[in-house]
Amino acid sequence: MSGTTSGFEQARKTAEGLAYSSGFGNEHASEAVPGALPVGRNSPQRAPLGLYAEQLSGTAFTEPRAHNRRSWLYRVRPSAAHPRFVRADGGSLRGAPFTETEPDPNRLRWDPLPDPAPGTDFLDGLWTLGGNGDAARREGVAIHLYAANAPMERRVFSSADGELLIVPERGGLLLRTEFGLLRAEPGHIALIPRGVRFRVEPLDAVVRGYVCENMGRPFVLPDLGPIGANGLANPRDFLAPTAAYEDVEGPVEVVNKFCGGLWTATYDHSPLDVVAWHGNLVPYVYDLRRFNVIGSISYDHPDPSIFTVLTSPSDTPGLAGVDFVVFAPRWLVGEDTFRPPYFHRNVMSEYMGLIEGAYDAKTAGPGGFVPGGGSLHNMMSAHGPDRETFDRASAAELVPQKVDDGLAFMFETRWPVTLTAQARDAGHLQRDYDDVWQGLERHFRE
Ligand SMILES: [Fe+2]
Repeated sequence: MSGTTSGFEQARKTAEGLAYSSGFGNEHASEAVPGALPVGRNSPQRAPLGLYAEQLSGTAFTEPRAHNRRSWLYRVRPSAAHPRFVRADGGSLRGAPFTETEPDPNRLRWDPLPDPAPGTDFLDGLWTLGGNGDAARREGVAIHLYAANAPMERRVFSSADGELLIVPERGGLLLRTEFGLLRAEPGHIALIPRGVRFRVEPLDAVVRGYVCENMGRPFVLPDLGPIGANGLANPRDFLAPTAAYEDVEGPVEVVNKFCGGLWTATYDHSPLDVVAWHGNLVPYVYDLRRFNVIGSISYDHPDPSIFTVLTSPSDTPGLAGVDFVVFAPRWLVGEDTFRPPYFHRNVMSEYMGLIEGAYDAKTAGPGGFVPGGGSLHNMMSAHGPDRETFDRASAAELVPQKVDDGLAFMFETRWPVTLTAQARDAGHLQRDYDDVWQGLERHFRE
């Protein structure tokens, strides 16, 4: 059934009308069979229905309550019931530390990934662009793209290295996780916690998108400060799955990304066998169109941090390991203001992707910044609007203007992103990206 119409139509049928549990960071609870969740304790002498109780810790046991993330899973077999993992070839998937190339100060941009070969599933279709930090120190990010056309069959994946923020750009995904099923279409993000096992089934013939593997502290919603109690991404719009389990015997390949390498073991059952669970460490899906965009109603373009959906804090207050930022439809009303994002040099490093349409600082079109493509502006690299955008925005009549022709996003990270060799040498790297800023004429007059 791989990649056939009936294959993804079946997945699409399954994805219809999934039930979710709402809220970010709160306690959720779900049972696929009534009575599967123990009452009043986490680990009774005998868990209900003959299930095994197991805790999954996303933070150290002792982290402050406000940061602590853990869930209890009640499953057919404990996760410990597995054979030895052996090293596997990672294909085009790489991990931190990134040492294949020398860090590059140049501004870089790529076209979308080439179409995948027939029979490519999500895991085989992961292609690492680069990253920073060190998986073994639990810090930094890896930036991946994916292009796939087949379901993961009798195969599940997890990353011990970090949580996976999946940003579909083309085609929908059905994510079968230990916690249940999620549907993620273009315009949604999905968040899979570190270590959580999942399987991906495409909902369309070809699926494509981006993945931020956050090796640092788990993503949280940013503080709102003077914005107040509401705004940006509202917690209630994050949807966790409800419990759904596979009671499947027979060989299932379990692939585990650990300290950058892939390891594989063949289980005699599916590890997606969690019948009930409760806790605050859960996968999520979130519709970026629900982002409450806040901006200037007087003058100047606020710093793009105002568009932060999720942030992974570091040990330095206000300094993120990585921020996930969305440039969603919004009104621009600033007076005497250059309205597109300004020219700047940033101590943070910026990877940008485009989910649909165009981005207001870059001209669209072939060879430009296109959906499925991406740009990297590393630490202190000078960037901003292209010449055409500068000319247009400098002369535009400043009437209220709706920007609603695109959905762009940014992974903004504290350290420079070092490329993989495949990203540096890729045929779809745009060799003439610097030309975007050529022809910015001298206008200075004394
Ligand atoms: Fe920037």
